[in-house]
Amino acid sequence: MPLTRPSNHADISMGLSQRPARISPKYFYDQHGSRLFEAITQLPEYYPTRTETALMQQHAADIARSVGTGRTLIELGAGSCQKARTLCQLVQPACFVGVDISADFLQDAVAAMSADLPWLDVRAVGGDMTQGVHLPDDIPRTGRLVFYPGSSIGNFDPPHALQLLAHMRELIDDDGGLLIGIDLPKDVTVMEAAYDDAAGVTAEFNRNVLRHVNRLIGSDFDVAQWQHRAFFNTEESRIEMHLEATTDAQVRWPGGERAFEQGERIHTENSYKYPLPVFTDMLARAGFSQAQAWTDERGWFAVVHARP
Ligand code: AVJ
Repeated sequence: MPLTRPSNHADISMGLSQRPARISPKYFYDQHGSRLFEAITQLPEYYPTRTETALMQQHAADIARSVGTGRTLIELGAGSCQKARTLCQLVQPACFVGVDISADFLQDAVAAMSADLPWLDVRAVGGDMTQGVHLPDDIPRTGRLVFYPGSSIGNFDPPHALQLLAHMRELIDDDGGLLIGIDLPKDVTVMEAAYDDAAGVTAEFNRNVLRHVNRLIGSDFDVAQWQHRAFFNTEESRIEMHLEATTDAQVRWPGGERAFEQGERIHTENSYKYPLPVFTDMLARAGFSQAQAWTDERGWFAVVHARP
């Protein structure tokens, strides 16, 4: 599946023309961006991945009992498939389907997974979550478990997140389920450090979106003219990431151009932090009326097993 679709040009070009300008976070994940994201998950400040991993280990037996074995495990935004590997050992699914927008990166990860877990039927599907995933017809419909870890749902604004949860409900039958990770609100300094690390990996991840956009639409962003900004917006309960022009900057691409003044920003990401009851209410509205949640001792992160 090609990374570039005709609609990327229109989508990016429209976003760049808005005031303030915006670029969807889905464009972070070219091959380099996917690698940078993997590096972010190892950072001391980036708590979500290790908190989620630890709490899934801590509650492994309960989660396995709740979820059941022999399922068709479908991971959305599978990336390196690291989390799926652990979950596969735990719940022994019959089939694993990795879905990711970065199809090249996914192919490698899925091939490695297949080599390490030879008993498992492993599949890779390229797909853009924001558009709704289409699965090949030969993937079993019964006993599906959709796995959406890492608080990735937090990158969508609440109406869009609700729509995606409703789409996940449509991917499963009444016997299916959803295992989803969500990042909870916490001390602002903890959250802000996670998105503005001392080593500057998140800054590089943010700026790399401009390189990817340059390739996708033929724009001439000078990455050196943009700096990383990340902060918690309390009213919206979200981390916002922006790229801020360090100087007046002119950007051109086929069919468009935009002048940015020094200090002007491009909004690149929101990462919503939902209180658990707010999120389970959203699940209920999406058709998941049963929810079992596990959280870490600090209450920083939750893994929820939701069922129709
Ligand atoms: C893709 C949702 C897991 O919002 O925490 C990490 C992406 N952005 N650092 C997040 C991200 C900046 C991440 N998720």
